[in-house]
Amino acid sequence: MIDLVRHHEAEGMSDRIALGITRTLRWFADTFFAKRYGHRAIVLETVAAVPGMVGGMMNHLKSLRRMRDDEGWIRELLDEAENERMHLMAFVALFKPTWFERLLVLFAQGVFWNAYFVLYLFAPRTAHRTVGYFEEEAIVSYTQFLEQIDAGNFENVAAPQMAIDYWKMSPEAKLRDLVIAVRADEAKHRDVNHGFAAELDRTKAPGRQLDKSDATADSEAKGERPAA
Ligand SMILES: [Fe+2]
Ligand SMILES: [Fe+2]
Repeated sequence: MIDLVRHHEAEGMSDRIALGITRTLRWFADTFFAKRYGHRAIVLETVAAVPGMVGGMMNHLKSLRRMRDDEGWIRELLDEAENERMHLMAFVALFKPTWFERLLVLFAQGVFWNAYFVLYLFAPRTAHRTVGYFEEEAIVSYTQFLEQIDAGNFENVAAPQMAIDYWKMSPEAKLRDLVIAVRADEAKHRDVNHGFAAELDRTKAPGRQLDKSDATADSEAKGERPAA
């Protein structure tokens, strides 16, 4: 069973920055797209497919520099980028972006690739947390999309053949099935990215906040008594 409501409570400055970035972008998306969920999906998936590629590239370079194994991060992040691109391919087969939206995509890619690159370079933990929060919002948006389909505001048309092949859906699959499949992918990306942020906390983030279990483990390792 997929958890559709998991939310990481923001702790510390890095999380609050990530949440702030996400809420700001959500506000812009809500204002611009309102209930045009098909168009929203197309434009936002062009953005969603960027972080995995940037993160994959950065970890690839890091693995080369440090001459150390990446522990599966590169593959995971590149798979995420590919998966997000398939979301785009599926929705663009059903909805046609306007010329203005195409222009917006050009602009957004120019800004977002560079912004996310800089964020990842200096604060990879915050970068993964931000994507974790993006994915939480994506789940909310796709749930709203489903509600609109169920309310009859979107025709529940046949899913495109490429989507049926990619998600191995039944040949009779509809838009509704596609949205459910995409939403499940977003939940996986959410867990992976929140997990990577937590992993960076444990391993290499300087000035990290130790949670109680970490503090206990550290002091036990040094033969100290854990603080009460
Ligand atoms: Fe997506
Ligand atoms: Fe996503």
